[in-house]
Amino acid sequence: MEMALFSVLSLSLLISLSLPSPSLSEPEHCNSEDKKLLLEIKATQPEYLASWNPSIDCCDWAGVECDETTSRVIALAIFGGNFSGQIPPVVGNLKYLESLVFRKLPNLTGKIPFAITKLIHLKEIRLSWTNLSGPVPSFFALLKNLTFLDLAFNNLTGSIPPELAQLTNLGAIHLDRNKLTGTIPESFGKFTRTVPDLYLSHNQLTGSVPKSLGNLNFTVLDFSRNQLSGDLSFIFGSNKTIQIVDFSRNMFEFDLSNIVFPASLTSLDFNHNKIFGSLPADLTALNFQFLNVSYNRLCGAIPTGGKLQNFDLTSFFHNRCLCGAPLPVC
Ligand SMILES: *[C@@H]1O[C@H](CO)[C@@H](O)[C@H](O)[C@H]1NC(C)=O
Ligand SMILES: *[C@@H]1O[C@H](CO)[C@@H](O)[C@H](O)[C@H]1NC(C)=O
Ligand SMILES: *[C@@H]1O[C@H](CO)[C@@H](O)[C@H](O)[C@H]1NC(C)=O
Ligand SMILES: *[C@@H]1O[C@H](CO)[C@@H](O)[C@H](O)[C@H]1NC(C)=O
Ligand SMILES: *[C@@H]1O[C@H](CO)[C@@H](O)[C@H](O)[C@H]1NC(C)=O
Ligand SMILES: *[C@@H]1O[C@H](CO)[C@@H](O)[C@H](O)[C@H]1NC(C)=O
Ligand SMILES: *[C@@H]1O[C@H](CO)[C@@H](O)[C@H](O)[C@H]1NC(C)=O
Ligand SMILES: *[C@@H]1O[C@H](CO)[C@@H](O)[C@H](O)[C@H]1NC(C)=O
Repeated sequence: MEMALFSVLSLSLLISLSLPSPSLSEPEHCNSEDKKLLLEIKATQPEYLASWNPSIDCCDWAGVECDETTSRVIALAIFGGNFSGQIPPVVGNLKYLESLVFRKLPNLTGKIPFAITKLIHLKEIRLSWTNLSGPVPSFFALLKNLTFLDLAFNNLTGSIPPELAQLTNLGAIHLDRNKLTGTIPESFGKFTRTVPDLYLSHNQLTGSVPKSLGNLNFTVLDFSRNQLSGDLSFIFGSNKTIQIVDFSRNMFEFDLSNIVFPASLTSLDFNHNKIFGSLPADLTALNFQFLNVSYNRLCGAIPTGGKLQNFDLTSFFHNRCLCGAPLPVC
């Protein structure tokens, strides 16, 4: 401690030699109201947040970021380690937060607190790789400026709240790797303004994908590893702009033969479904980086040309009667 103080002093002395009007004690940058709230958070985790030293400017604390001009705390990121118990509701009083991250905290439990709805400036919220439980709250819809919502890798249950579609600035929704049940909301085909990337994989979602999703230009859809069924043909079409699709490991059942895949498509994973028909000839016109249609009920010759023969047989195997390179000849 003595040593640390000494070096801080000698550092400021050194600086003062080169500055016209030296001041030994820098005025604290951190807003005092925000500092008080952060200390309340620290009180819930005295060991984990031991490094939050009250005699140091709170804008310099690990995981805390302040706005340069207003000095208000605009970002809080708690990342990794033994933060245990619930998200302290007092977080909701850090009212200038634009980014809130609780990530890779296996001992973070409980529900997502309603108090976060007070954070009206929030743009990014990431509560992921924790043990949060309870529902995906519909109250996220109150955070109108959200551009990024990540609740992946938790223990969340219940169904996906349709109200999320009221968020008009969302670039991505990550709800993957939870225990969500029910259907994909109809409202997810009614986002206005931005159309978010949807990551819903590794849940227990059931039913068919709402047709309404065919009305929007999505870029990324990952619905893999659920129990979804029915048709998906409306996701495709020559006038779409979708790029990455992972519908693998569900129970989708539809005829692939007449689907027109848009030129934008670069990655298509359909493995482990009940898709039938044949591979459309114009698949050869696409610039695929990834393709997997294995474990379905497809038949007929794999069209030749384009990128299709660049993939190995595991992209095509275990179908009803698909044939031709890279599978055995028809
Ligand atoms: C979480 O808590 C358990 C039980 O107290 C402990 O064994 C484990 O190490 C903790 N996890 C972390 C990341 O510290
Ligand atoms: C994690 O924190 C909890 C609660 O503060 C404590 O009981 C436990 O011993 C800690 N585990 C480790 C590995 O530090
Ligand atoms: C949730 O807690 C369990 C132990 O209770 C642990 O094995 C698991 O890794 C935790 N999940 C996450 C995402 O940290
Ligand atoms: C929401 O974002 C817009 C555009 O960035 C900004 O003008 C507005 O002040 C924000 N609203 C809040 C409550 O932060
Ligand atoms: C995860 O949720 C299940 C119920 O869905 C519960 O039994 C389990 O204890 C939860 N795990 C944690 C760490 O909260
Ligand atoms: C694509 O074209 C079809 C038929 O022309 C039309 O009904 C549909 O709304 C269009 N979809 C998009 C996303 O533009
Ligand atoms: C989707 O994108 C295509 C190509 O840019 C465009 O023609 C079509 O109108 C868009 N559809 C919607 C619903 O925005
Ligand atoms: C395609 O998916 C199957 C089933 O998961 C897997 O065994 C195979 O390795 C995958 N092939 C490629 C190229 O991704």
